[in-house]
Amino acid sequence: MAGKLEGKAAVITGAGSGIGRAIALRFAREGAAVTVADLDAAGGETTVAQVEADGGRARFVACDVADSAAVRTTIDAAAAAFGRLDILVNNAGIGVTGRAEDLSIEDWNRVIAVDLSGVFYGAKYAIPHLRRAGGGAIINVSSAFGIVAAPEVPAYCAAKGGVIMLTRQLAVDYAREGIRVNALCPGYVATDMGGRRAALPPRQRDAANARREANAALQPIGRQAHPDEIAAAALYLASDESSFVVGAALCVDGGETISFPHLFG
Ligand SMILES: NC(=O)c1ccc[n+]([C@@H]2O[C@H](COP(=O)([O-])OP(=O)(O)OC[C@H]3O[C@@H](n4cnc5c(N)ncnc54)[C@H](O)[C@@H]3O)[C@@H](O)[C@H]2O)c1
Repeated sequence: MAGKLEGKAAVITGAGSGIGRAIALRFAREGAAVTVADLDAAGGETTVAQVEADGGRARFVACDVADSAAVRTTIDAAAAAFGRLDILVNNAGIGVTGRAEDLSIEDWNRVIAVDLSGVFYGAKYAIPHLRRAGGGAIINVSSAFGIVAAPEVPAYCAAKGGVIMLTRQLAVDYAREGIRVNALCPGYVATDMGGRRAALPPRQRDAANARREANAALQPIGRQAHPDEIAAAALYLASDESSFVVGAALCVDGGETISFPHLFG
């Protein structure tokens, strides 16, 4: 049976780990040729090896999405390597914690550069290729925290909220050309965002993991998502199954953004 992305080519940023890797594996299984773009070469090459072991096609390109020239080169190289570009998933993202008075200007600028400007650069340089392919899909990975605010992540919330609005704006400009732009808003997903928790001393790491589990337990579904559950939604937005979905912010969050986890009264 033909895959849902047979004959298509996709670029996925931040595909060296977590959600991006799950999306790369899923898209390749559905027939897409995948460019894995990531800062982390070891992670990116591991994703490529996993795709190939699975019978798919992938290549790795080292790229910092905060560097507009690098994004342009990566996207042009991806389109040249596979002869076309149909799908871009702007997934690379980082978070830095600290209330406004404590968050450094450098950390603010870096989070905005990676999580928001990186999305703009990706779209800017992918759109001409998508047009040439006769249309395509851009999927921007935002977050539940682009919709509801969480404590101590001002830059992350601002960037992820910005991604939703940027998604809508791009969708307005390009829908008539068959380029559909949508956002995905995951809730808690069982990844190790930025390797931050894995890098902690064991006691702190265990405490951070326990806190995350406790937060996830407050979601109506009561658990974290598996990265594959986010990849399934990305596949929907990338495929023709979502042909009438334009500028959406699709929450895949176990109900996190529709609830307030306290009792009445
Ligand atoms: N894990 C969650 O609970 C969760 C929830 C909501 C949204 N998200 C979003 O999902 C996306 C993926 O997160 P994840 O949980 O898989 O994290 P992760 O840390 O496992 O993966 C992120 C990947 O992005 C790469 N990356 C980081 N900065 C980059 C840059 N400047 N240029 C290129 N690559 C870069 C990292 O090397 C890594 O491979 C992020 O945008 C994140 O904000 C995650």
